[in-house]
Amino acid sequence: MAASVTVVDHPLVQHKLTLLRDRERSTQGFRNLLNEIGMLLAYEVTRDLPLEPVMIETPIQTMEGRQIQGKKLVLAPILRAGVGFLDGMLSLLPSARVAHIGLYRDPDTLEAVEYYFKAPSDLADRTVLVLDPMLATANSAVAALQRLKQRGAQDLRFVCLLAAPEGIARFQAAHPDVPIWTAAIDSHLDDHGYIVPGLGDAGDRMYGTR
Ligand code: URA
Repeated sequence: MAASVTVVDHPLVQHKLTLLRDRERSTQGFRNLLNEIGMLLAYEVTRDLPLEPVMIETPIQTMEGRQIQGKKLVLAPILRAGVGFLDGMLSLLPSARVAHIGLYRDPDTLEAVEYYFKAPSDLADRTVLVLDPMLATANSAVAALQRLKQRGAQDLRFVCLLAAPEGIARFQAAHPDVPIWTAAIDSHLDDHGYIVPGLGDAGDRMYGTR
């Protein structure tokens, strides 16, 4: 059985997602909203991290507090749109390491082509949050997860903004062990592999490169 798909339907996420989808949203506005949603998604995707007791001194007395135990986090944005989530997530998870995975979609085949990969060497000991706003064909996500697994990652979570049903199916067939968090599941993919109704090309909208 495939791992879970969690739609984060928090009102703040849904409100900001609607603002961000709007074709009239400026590049700066789009980038800011993506960062803010990244922060909110980081809150949800880390909800079940295990805690351990820790003794601390308050100004009044000693007490047992709780801190996140065990495995450390890696944020792994898929270039380039995945970077849009990074600052927002790092503001909540400042000690996370960052892996970069450079993949582009061949416009003819829609296949993922890798051009860059740099990750911490101890991936096997870490929880890896793979970031890409758009889970469309899932070619990039599937390739990125394969690469991270080859490098030892075992505990992976995928975080996106929008997912297409076709992308979810392909992702789950290739990586049934990896749970997905998304802000919405849209209707379908068009003939060019764009999510409908979607938001257009996330990378172009983030960087103003259209
Ligand atoms: N990548 C995007 O940026 N947008 C889509 O709709 C699909 C893939």
